[in-house]
Amino acid sequence: MKKHILVVPGDGIGQEVTTVGKKVLEKIAEKFGHEFTYDEGLIGHVAIEATGEPLPEETLVKMRASDAILFGAVGHAKYDNDPHAKVRPEQGLLKMRKELGLYANLRPIKLFDELLEASSIKPEILKGADILFFRELTGDVYFGKRERIEEGNTAYDTMIYSKYEVERIARKAFDAAMTRGKKLMSVDKANVLESSRLWRETVLEVAKDYPEVELEHQFVDAAAMLLIKDPKKFDVVVTGNLFGDILTDEASQIAGSMGMLASASVGDSTGVYEPIHGSAHDITGKGIANPLASVLSAALLLDISFGLKAESEAVINAVDQVLKAGYRTGDIATKDTPKDMILGTVAMGEQILSRL
Ligand code: NAD
Ligand code: IPM
Ligand code: MN
Repeated sequence: MKKHILVVPGDGIGQEVTTVGKKVLEKIAEKFGHEFTYDEGLIGHVAIEATGEPLPEETLVKMRASDAILFGAVGHAKYDNDPHAKVRPEQGLLKMRKELGLYANLRPIKLFDELLEASSIKPEILKGADILFFRELTGDVYFGKRERIEEGNTAYDTMIYSKYEVERIARKAFDAAMTRGKKLMSVDKANVLESSRLWRETVLEVAKDYPEVELEHQFVDAAAMLLIKDPKKFDVVVTGNLFGDILTDEASQIAGSMGMLASASVGDSTGVYEPIHGSAHDITGKGIANPLASVLSAALLLDISFGLKAESEAVINAVDQVLKAGYRTGDIATKDTPKDMILGTVAMGEQILSRL
């Protein structure tokens, strides 16, 4: 198979982990006889430094011309503490999602058995947890009207959804539920928010086309609690952009670490595959970032954008084997992990490659 992949590492540990994700794709192509070509694009702080813009037109053109995009992370400490910065790395990420029409963000919470002890949640509560989040990605407060008023002393952001936006993400989630346990949880705040009442009303309408799927509604505050109390209760979850952002960082603790969670952003055009974590200023440049979220994002890319199931499974299997062999990065190590089994980003990547 011939495919063209755009690699967009972005900032901070995005650079470090995406290098590993790309090597995994190269190794898969070599092993399975595919011809993958690559190009690289700028986004985030590195793009602002080079061009003044968080998502330069040149990158967008390359994105549209690619068959899939492997993305790292954006963000830089200097903007996080500067509320007045008008141009920000995160704007590049949001523009990419909107411009490419990536309205569905799939965030699988996959717990590898070997990491049962790495989580702060008790193993008996966790064992068997397997969740697939559908986070809506191009609506909500992220893209609603926002403004500073009253001489800058008051600010608002608008939580806004239109019916078609809820309907298309709900359909994707129901379709996924049909291929899994035929259970779907929709998360909203319909007891308070009008946009959530539209959300719930629309999900109920879509549900009529999926009579076999058992639909449950939860308010977001209760869902946040239930995720920790009983993660096995969850199968497929559909929710809005902001609630999905928060709940999936929380859910990363079910998988052991943010460094384990991959995602796929799909919709109208080229899919983007990215870890759910950010640029992690606190560990940038130390060579200790867990690259497995990027490796697992590469696995999602192979499966979802290219339909290469065996190749995707080979990647997941390699991760499983490395964990079974006892290798860990610092974020998924426990007090019982021997020091010489705790690897840096590059060494962990080499362990994965050697098993492909
Ligand atoms: P973060 O995800 O970067 O980090 C949160 C914590 O998790 C940190 O302690 C970090 O060290 C740890 N962590 C994250 N990924 C890890 C990995 N692969 N291996 C080991 N540890 C890992 O979130 P934050 O600190 O809130 O944000 C930092 C910057 O990243 C901000 O500028 C933010 O805007 C940006 N951000 C970007 C994205 C993205 O590009 N998709 C996502 C989240 C945050
Ligand atoms: C994510 C991030 C982004 C989001 C930020 C950096 C804009 O947290 O990809 O989860 O909120 O969507
Ligand atoms: Mn997030």
